[in-house]
Amino acid sequence: MKNKTLKFPEGFFWGAAISAYQVEGGNRNDWSEWEKENSDRLAREAKTKWAPWQQEKFPEMFDPQNYISGRACDHYNRYEEDLDIAKSLGINAFRLSTEWSRIEPEEGKFDEQEIKHYRKVLKAIRGRGMEPFVTLWHWTNPVWLAKRGGPENKKFPFYFSRYAKYVVQNLGKGVKFWLTLNEPTSVIINSYIKGIWPPQKRNLLSALKVYKILARAHNQIYQEIKNLEEDFQIGLANILQFVEPYNEGNFLDKLAATVSDYYVNKKFYSLTRGNHDFLAVQYYFHNKIKFPWKAKNENQEVSDLGWEIYPEGIYHILKDLKKYNLPIYITENGLADAEDKKRVKFIKDHLYWVQRAIAEGADVRGYFHWSLLDNFEWDKGFWPRFGLVEVDYKTLERKIRPSAWKYAKICKNNELVPG
Ligand code: FCB
Repeated sequence: MKNKTLKFPEGFFWGAAISAYQVEGGNRNDWSEWEKENSDRLAREAKTKWAPWQQEKFPEMFDPQNYISGRACDHYNRYEEDLDIAKSLGINAFRLSTEWSRIEPEEGKFDEQEIKHYRKVLKAIRGRGMEPFVTLWHWTNPVWLAKRGGPENKKFPFYFSRYAKYVVQNLGKGVKFWLTLNEPTSVIINSYIKGIWPPQKRNLLSALKVYKILARAHNQIYQEIKNLEEDFQIGLANILQFVEPYNEGNFLDKLAATVSDYYVNKKFYSLTRGNHDFLAVQYYFHNKIKFPWKAKNENQEVSDLGWEIYPEGIYHILKDLKKYNLPIYITENGLADAEDKKRVKFIKDHLYWVQRAIAEGADVRGYFHWSLLDNFEWDKGFWPRFGLVEVDYKTLERKIRPSAWKYAKICKNNELVPG
């Protein structure tokens, strides 16, 4: 890569992302209930799940407490401090989610206090010159809904729309950009195919059903929000993988890659066609597919989670999305890197490829790094460190990582000096 300065389009959104459950603390929903029942098991299974280097580096993974979200980062009470940090980094957009279980803790009963809370948070975001992007469902369900099957219940689109409409009606004044669902395919794969997330099913029929129900939920709320306010911009935070055949010359590998690409990347869009004002892309994974289904990667460079780092993948994804002819926001991209040794290069390399896609016509208008803070990484708990800002979970002290200042420079100058 040459060291030529690369400019980003004027008005580009430079952001960071969080989700309610992973940072707020004090939530009660299907995940919090599941953690209590599974923390011992998850701690035990760490021995077989993670490589020796990971076990050695992160002994917290053997502690059941690692798997209890508890007070998390206490962001619910410390949001002002966290937003001050975001502002100091030159971030001009901020992605957060509203927690359904707080807003509708009992079926049909909405908690006005929680709406007030999020109203304050949004005001604090705007007051610091940041554009909020609000996600309405970042995976967690209120307990009453989980008991009725969550997204497997045919009435999920009705329940979701009722809650989401209430949020939009009450918080809409300060928000233009809405994200309906976060990564439906991650839930379908992890909860209903692999069976490792709540409700831990391994049932292909359930998975296919949830696929359709979540698509319907998105379509319904899209129309309803549009009816409320034509100007709202609505999208769906979709995880897209860069999929290729393991061996280009092998017909069966190519076939397997095409099928995988369809289910992982394309099917959800085809079920929700016409109901997107923009595309929200989350990029973490590159997969080389070997027939019949196996992903085999080179893994030359990996994060603390062992996820392959493959910046070029984002370029191919963005180029492919051009065909939809919609604005694109990258609403998540990041890595677990406790020592902060790889984050700067990770960010710069990904942005290099983003800029290249833009130069070749992809209408990318924003990039949100995952995450502002270290946080609770679902079934893996606290040990993976995704933050631009380090959180000491004992004292809750925040410490800005050196990489964050490098990211800040890019945000402030709206340009990247690669390399
Ligand atoms: C994404 C999720 C986000 C976070 C990152 C690491 O799939 O949307 O909540 O867990 O992965």
